[in-house]
Amino acid sequence: MAELKFRSPKGVHDLLPAENQYMTYIKKAVRHRARQAGYKRIDPPIFEDRSLFERGIGEHTDIVEKELFGVGRKGADEVLDFALRPEFTAGICRSYIQHGMQELPQPVELYSIGPCFRYDRPQKGRFRQFHQFDFEVIGLSDPSIDAQMIQVAWKIFGDLKIQKRLTLQINNIGATEDRKAYVDALKEFFSGKERNLPEIDRKRVQTNPLRLLDSKEEDTQILVKMAPKLSQFVNEESKKYHSDLLEYLTELDIPFTENHGLVRGLDYYNQTVFEFWDRSTGAQNAVGGGGRYDYLIEQLGGKPTPGVGFAVGMERVMWHMQEAGVEAPFKDQVDVFVAQLGPDAKKKCLKIVSELRELGIHTVGALGEASLKSQMRLADRFQARYCLLLGQIEVKEGTIILRDMIAGKQKQMKFEKAIPEVVKLVGKESLDTYSIQDKLGEFSDPGEG
Ligand code: HAM
Repeated sequence: MAELKFRSPKGVHDLLPAENQYMTYIKKAVRHRARQAGYKRIDPPIFEDRSLFERGIGEHTDIVEKELFGVGRKGADEVLDFALRPEFTAGICRSYIQHGMQELPQPVELYSIGPCFRYDRPQKGRFRQFHQFDFEVIGLSDPSIDAQMIQVAWKIFGDLKIQKRLTLQINNIGATEDRKAYVDALKEFFSGKERNLPEIDRKRVQTNPLRLLDSKEEDTQILVKMAPKLSQFVNEESKKYHSDLLEYLTELDIPFTENHGLVRGLDYYNQTVFEFWDRSTGAQNAVGGGGRYDYLIEQLGGKPTPGVGFAVGMERVMWHMQEAGVEAPFKDQVDVFVAQLGPDAKKKCLKIVSELRELGIHTVGALGEASLKSQMRLADRFQARYCLLLGQIEVKEGTIILRDMIAGKQKQMKFEKAIPEVVKLVGKESLDTYSIQDKLGEFSDPGEG
C-alpha cells in the first residue's frame, strides 16, 4: 500500500463504526446502572490546570511524572499551563469544591464517561487516548458505600457478560499516617540495597517506594518478598473497616480476592483499594480500579470530605467482550434503499425517504443520477433489506416497485401503498422512533417540517 500522507498518531485510534457499537452498548449499561443507583452525570473538562493533576494524583506517580500531555499557550502576558486529563477523579473533586457541592445532601454520587490521555508507551491494551467510565461517591465514609459502589461495577460487568473473566482484587492500605510509617519502613529496608535494584527502581526508593511493591523487575520482586508488609502497619480501625467491607461484599454475592500487595499507582488513596483483573493475565491490563480518597478534597483546597470511586477502561472492556464472543447489538442496518430515475421521480423520492425516516425506518436514498441498475448494486452493497424503485414509467402510472432484496422478488403497487406496506414488512417493533419529542412535549417548538 502506498505510504499514507496522514495516519492517526501513535497509540491513538479511530473508533470505527463497528467499535462504536460496543462503545454505545457499554455506555448504555453504564447509564442504566448509574441511574438505578442514584448517580448523576458530570463532565469535567478535558483539560485542566496541570497543577491540579500534580496535586491530586501525586507528583511522583508515573501518570504525572511521565504521562501527562501538556497543553500550553504563551500569551503576551501569561503562560497557560494545562494538561489533558489522565483520569476523572481530580477534575470531579475540583468541581465538587468549586460548585459548593458540600451543600447538597451527602453523599454526592457522580459518574462520567469520556476520553482520557496518558503518554504511555503504546502496547496491547495501553493507548495514549482511551476512554473511561468513572464513578465517584463523595461526602461519606462507610464500608457499605464502598460495597454498593463496587456492586455497580460488578453489575455492569455482568450486563456486558464479562464478569466471569474478571476477579476483584481488594486491599486496605490504612490511614495516611499508616502509609507514611510504612513508606519510611520501606525506605529504611531498601536503603543500602539500592545496588541490587534495577535502575528504574533505584530512584523510587526515595521518591515513591510503594511503587516497588508492584515492580515488574525480578530483582526488585525478590527483595519485596523480604520487605516489611503494609498489613503490619494498618491500624485497627482500618482493619475493622476492611472486614466490614468484605462482609458486605459477601452479603452482595460479589466474589473477591484479598490482595495485600495491591497499592495502586495514584497517591490519593487511603483505606480501601481495589482492581478488576483479567482472570488469566492478572495485574497486567487491569480492566478497572479505584479506592477511597478521604484526604484528596482537602488537599485540593476544600473542606475535609471523604470520597471513594473507581474507573474502568472501556477499550479493555470492549476487548473482553470481543474475546468472550459477546456481540453488541447492531442497529445500523439499512431497512430500505430508495432508487429513482428522472427529475420527477427524484422529487417524489425525496419526500418518500423523509417520510420513511420519520416513521423510524432506516432509509438510504441514492438521489444521484446513476442508472437504476447501478443503484440496485449499491442497495446490495448497503445490505438493504428492501428497495423501493421509482422510474419515469412508474411516476407516470402513479405506481412504485418494491423489491425484497433477500428473496430477490419484486412487485409493483400504487404509490400511496408503498409506505404502509414497508412499515408492515419491517414490523412495528423494529421501528427506530425517537421519543424526545414526546418527552419535551409542551416545551417543544413545533417549527416547520
Ligand atoms: P487507573 O487504574 O489509573 O485509575 O485507571 C482505571 C482504568 O483505566 C484502568 O484499569 C484501565 O482499564 C484504564 N486505563 C488506564 N490507562 C490506560 C491506557 N493507557 N490505555 C487504556 N486503558 C487505560 C484511575 O484512573 C482512577 N481515577 C480510578 C478512581 C476513580 N479512583 C477513585 N476514583
